[in-house]
Amino acid sequence: MKPARFLFAALTLVGAMDVASSQSADLSKGEYLARAANCIACHTMSEGVPYTGGLRMATPVGVIYSTNITPDAETGIGRYTLEDFDKAIRKGIAKDGHQLYPAMPYPSYSKISDEDIKSLYDFFLKEVKPVRQKNSAPEIAWPMNMRWPLSIWNAVMTETAPYVTNRDFDAEWNRGAYLVQGPGHCGACHTPRGIAQQEKAYDHRDPDFLSGAVIDNWSAPNLRGDANTGLGRWSEADVATYLKTGSSRFGSAFGTMHEVVAYSTQYMTDADTKAMAKYLKSIPSSATDHAQPVWVYNATVTNELKAGNTSRPGANTYVRQCASCHGMDGAGNANMPPLAGNPAILDKDPVSLIRVLLNGTATNANDDGPKVPNMPQFRSWLKDQEIADVVNFMRTSWGNRASASATSQRVNELRKATDVADDRSVILRMR
Ligand code: HEC
Ligand code: HEC
Ligand code: HEC
Repeated sequence: MKPARFLFAALTLVGAMDVASSQSADLSKGEYLARAANCIACHTMSEGVPYTGGLRMATPVGVIYSTNITPDAETGIGRYTLEDFDKAIRKGIAKDGHQLYPAMPYPSYSKISDEDIKSLYDFFLKEVKPVRQKNSAPEIAWPMNMRWPLSIWNAVMTETAPYVTNRDFDAEWNRGAYLVQGPGHCGACHTPRGIAQQEKAYDHRDPDFLSGAVIDNWSAPNLRGDANTGLGRWSEADVATYLKTGSSRFGSAFGTMHEVVAYSTQYMTDADTKAMAKYLKSIPSSATDHAQPVWVYNATVTNELKAGNTSRPGANTYVRQCASCHGMDGAGNANMPPLAGNPAILDKDPVSLIRVLLNGTATNANDDGPKVPNMPQFRSWLKDQEIADVVNFMRTSWGNRASASATSQRVNELRKATDVADDRSVILRMR
């Protein structure tokens, strides 16, 4: 899936999203839910008008475009009844009866309650301004362009019932489970996919749920109780702070997660981010970490670097290019994320790390949190092998015990498949 990249400057030009009233307290119930479900991230093009669609998404079967969901009668969803809207969001069926590609996360949205569907409908049909903008046709080769097999896919692969309260847990936990599984569609990125591109699980009872996955050359890490690669060492407050501000003492949000925080979770109420944190922290480990001892800081590499010993591959690059910000001890500081013990560094797949080094990161994920500066790009300064070496160096220093699996070939592939402009586009503040 192609991540949404667009300038929020566009927002100030249109009434679709009133910049002055974007604080969660001022949002209508429907607009709040639209934020929680992050409809804007996919249904808006780079520098496009919110909700007018047209975002290009590369999927395993071909290129598709998100659609105009402003209430324009000709090109948007102006003629959708509540029933039509419900079928699109929770069943993936458009008004004319055609099956939507599952890039639209309707398998997760099927858990949204009847009442919340009504609020979302009211927001899109009554509060969003209609904009005339024609949809683009998907570029998918036969036979995958036949949409009818998707209805079979649906029957086999997806659940289509609203969230059911779990009586073994309290209301706060249930609210968190609802938001994570339903509108938040966290599993669309964090749950691995099977051969038919279906998410392998939609609920924590299955150990695949939120166990980490690579999508569009970003690795969305394990969010289960695993101590090293998951949220096992995070407190509930750490998780809630991260969703609200885009950083915690373990690391900061980058890549597609940066967008999730920037357009969605930062606008959620403290009660809701706390509820999501409570639910996530209740999910047991997926057992992928079990063979590994829990991360503890180890000073060996720090001492070597301080003594001027840079004989390990990548150490020399680290001292010259990275240590001024992230520290010889990899501990970061108030403004810089740590690399020691950071679950994103310990991730089983190093793809995100290679990408962050090649392209750097965008800044300002949040309005309220610490103003973290951004990470510079190194594609102009470091060769493929140097990037692979410094990634492996981070993954195996300071007590980090991840596999040294970054290769110059992988760096080279990602150098070609990604670019700085896309990964660093500025997100202007929404309020
Ligand atoms: C992860 C990306 C993504 C998110 C998030 C997303 N959508 Fe979609 N949506 C799409 C894509 C892609 C399509 C077009 C699919 C196709 O052409 O088969 C689509 C199609 C639709 C359609 C059918 C439109 C038509 O032209 O008939 C509606 C309605 C819709 N989305 C509403 C929403 C709403 C409301 C939300 C938030 C609650 C939302 N979408 C969130 C990607 C997304
Ligand atoms: C000018 C300061 C600076 C330098 C130099 C720098 N970084 Fe960063 N780095 C940052 C900041 C700030 C972030 C957080 C960015 C964000 O969250 O968007 C970051 C994020 C990261 C991340 C993602 C971790 C996370 O939780 O956000 C990795 C991995 C990383 N840096 C590795 C390196 C390596 C390796 C080098 C040297 C090749 C390096 N950095 C050089 C400032 C720097
Ligand atoms: C569009 C894809 C996408 C969606 C949707 C998404 N995430 Fe993420 N998430 C990522 C990626 C990629 C990372 C890794 C980058 C990082 O650490 O910032 C990440 C990182 C995280 C982290 C930090 C984990 C760690 O080990 O450092 C947390 C916590 C998190 N996501 C929670 C959530 C929650 C809760 C939701 C649903 C509300 C969600 N994510 C939805 C892509 C996504």
